[in-house]
Amino acid sequence: MNHFEVIGGELHAEQVPLSAIAEAVGTPVYVYSTAALQQRARAYKAGVAKVGGRTHVAFAVKANPNLAVLRVLANEGFGADVVSGGEMTRAMAGGIAARDIVFSGVGKTRAELAQGLEAGIGQFNLELEEEGVVLAEIAAAKGLRAPAVLRVNPDVDAGTHDKISTGKAENKFGLPIDQAPAIFDRLAPLEGLNLRGVAVHIGSQLSSLAPLEAAFERIGRLVAELRANGHVITHVDLGGGLGVPYRKGEVMPSPEAFGEMVARVTQGWDVELQFEPGRAIAANAGVLVTEVLWVKPGVTNPWVIVDAAMNDLARVALYDAHHDFSAVKPSGETFVANVAGPVCESSDVFAKGREIDLVKAGDLAVLHSAGAYGATMASMYNSRPLVPEVLVSGDRFEVVARRVSAEAIMGEEQVPDWLG
Ligand code: LLP
Repeated sequence: MNHFEVIGGELHAEQVPLSAIAEAVGTPVYVYSTAALQQRARAYKAGVAKVGGRTHVAFAVKANPNLAVLRVLANEGFGADVVSGGEMTRAMAGGIAARDIVFSGVGKTRAELAQGLEAGIGQFNLELEEEGVVLAEIAAAKGLRAPAVLRVNPDVDAGTHDKISTGKAENKFGLPIDQAPAIFDRLAPLEGLNLRGVAVHIGSQLSSLAPLEAAFERIGRLVAELRANGHVITHVDLGGGLGVPYRKGEVMPSPEAFGEMVARVTQGWDVELQFEPGRAIAANAGVLVTEVLWVKPGVTNPWVIVDAAMNDLARVALYDAHHDFSAVKPSGETFVANVAGPVCESSDVFAKGREIDLVKAGDLAVLHSAGAYGATMASMYNSRPLVPEVLVSGDRFEVVARRVSAEAIMGEEQVPDWLG
């Protein structure tokens, strides 16, 4: 079921007309559906439950770190995959227990490693040997043993956009899979470490299960090799990456199909399998509501200038991503147009030469599938306010992140006296 549907001529989030939110909060504004988050969270859990053994699902906080969203997922029994001290603090503030937190990331600072140890987080995903040595030292000094796994780079082409691929040998992530056994041998004996497994994540928005399967098969061979070398392997983190439909009618591998593939490939591994989905949970649980400011004549197509821009939703400018655009009150008529924001960059364009709902100045419209990597990547470029977020549940809605004004940020700036 889709939780963003036209009811009585107007697009709703669950039972809330989007115009009611726009009126109360203004635009642009992100709107999330609680029911949509829950539905995807449950579908993902049901999918990976097919493996039969122990599983742990950790939401990739980077996809949507809003505290209310994290609370919804905490209530669904999700842990968190974090990549900074800030995300760790948020995950816990959102109600996720420290032991359910996995700390990923290629550049953790010593302070962040210490923060994770003090909080008692569930696992550190190590990106290089030296990080393991440093973590072990910090832990030993505190009389602790840090639960950790080695993130390996399986050298698999994820077949996704270059800027969101992580599993090719030339990417900065993980350590080369062929070096993993030797590094494991050297790190495992360290007093401050409980090195208990491996992790892999090859990229995001994967539209095929094949590269994931290839990566997991390599991981399976690595686990067997590590065990043959005498290591005790109890945990394997299979990352995130499952793609989602961004276009109406587009079909992507379901969590169910993913779970079936994982069950097949990991048969007999006898470990706790961990997952770090972000997009699969949040992307289609949110939209960005915007108002049409102008319809400006163009050389080939008219420009629909909306009040949302690349600073609010960066994905199109960064990855040539596609987000469906539709009117909140569609008339049924369409036209071919470009859709762009007010930011002074030619990359601030959401759609080019696309057939869209006919809109005019003052109309409300939405960019769909904006619940993941939307608000979290927003900036205040062009001194635009930071976009607010609203959570809907049934016929209720609440602002879960207020609009931050340009003035508030200016208040953090200072002109030195010596400039006169
Ligand atoms: N685990 C690790 C180690 C990751 O690096 C990521 C995403 C995930 C899990 C979650 O992946 P997901 O299930 O969401 O695909 N800003 C980009 C996406 C960047 C993804 C970065 N890492 C975008 O908007 O497409």
